[in-house]
Amino acid sequence: MHLSHVGTNKICFLLSLAFCALLVLLIPSLQPPQRQADLPLPRPRAKPAGRRHDLYGNPGQGSHEAKDGSVVHPLPPGGRPWDPHTMLDGDAAHASSPGSRSKDSLDLRDIFIAVKTTRKYHKSRLQLLSQTWVSKAKEQTFIFTDGEDKELRQKAGLNIINTNCSAAHTRQALCCKMSVEYDKFIESQKKWFCHVDDDNYVILPSLLELLSSYSHTQDVYLGRPSLDHPIEAAERVKSDGSVSVKFWFATGGAGFCISRGLALKMSPWASLGNFITTAEKIRLPDDCTVGYIIEALLEVPLTHTGLFHSHLENLQRLPTDNILKQVTLSYGGFENRRNVVSVGGVFSLAEDPSRFKSVHCLLYPDTEWCPRKTRH
Ligand SMILES: *[C@@H]1O[C@H](CO)[C@@H](O)[C@H](O)[C@H]1NC(C)=O
Repeated sequence: MHLSHVGTNKICFLLSLAFCALLVLLIPSLQPPQRQADLPLPRPRAKPAGRRHDLYGNPGQGSHEAKDGSVVHPLPPGGRPWDPHTMLDGDAAHASSPGSRSKDSLDLRDIFIAVKTTRKYHKSRLQLLSQTWVSKAKEQTFIFTDGEDKELRQKAGLNIINTNCSAAHTRQALCCKMSVEYDKFIESQKKWFCHVDDDNYVILPSLLELLSSYSHTQDVYLGRPSLDHPIEAAERVKSDGSVSVKFWFATGGAGFCISRGLALKMSPWASLGNFITTAEKIRLPDDCTVGYIIEALLEVPLTHTGLFHSHLENLQRLPTDNILKQVTLSYGGFENRRNVVSVGGVFSLAEDPSRFKSVHCLLYPDTEWCPRKTRH
């Protein structure tokens, strides 16, 4: 009896020891798993604690009192990030080092490409696009315009969205179109939103490669800043005047991309017509308003890239060797006919004044209308 009592005690003691050991082993696995979403892969931006740098690595200023006593919003936390692959304008090669960035295994079908146009340019600009790059991304490219065009819709088989916005080139009309673009993207369930203008050539393989190096679930805003300093705008507040805000924005004329994760966060200021209200608050054009929502309101910094190009740049300066590695190209309009990228050997300037057909034949030499000599 006494012995068996000691035996029971021993067994109890050993059992509780085993239980404790089990607990110790289990504790690490009982802790909540680290959320993948919190680990940006790759980090499009570095966030050195307490330090801010501008484009040139100079420390930026934080929040401070303006002369009139109103608070100047701080620049978004972190440096002014440049896409590490596109540090240098022009010779921005996609020198992807394998393994340095985790791949999203992105497909072209995951990208929603919005092309902003107006009825006036359906013939002169859209035909060229539907003949060239849009033909390689028909399913995911959406043309946002301001007038019906049955011919374009039926013959070219394009996704045309009549925004019913005004055809005027005013802030309100442009913001109205951006608002519709945003809503259609959200509806589409695609991973990336890319906006371009009707005078842009999108080099689809480069776009895919660039976006593949980021995750669509993170906050990513990629584009070319149109100024070399952040824009400063007066933000209207309810009754008494305005406060000053400083932020970077990607120039719409060169195209820009936004991850779905970030686009969803923009919803309170961008969805269902709210974009127009937001634009009115700062009285700035559509692309500035996008920058305002992302940088000033959501404090997500623009990732600067030199791979997007607008007609406002000197396009002749782009090194010929690197043209096919860029993400977007453009061409000077009637005012500046000679501002085009320098690609030779396919079509003459007279045959192909924008150079888009030449670029297209270099990218896709098997295209039916490309000269034989460029084909394989
Ligand atoms: C524009 O108006 C037409 C006709 O009323 C309508 O069917 C279409 O959905 C409208 N477009 C948008 C983007 O609201």
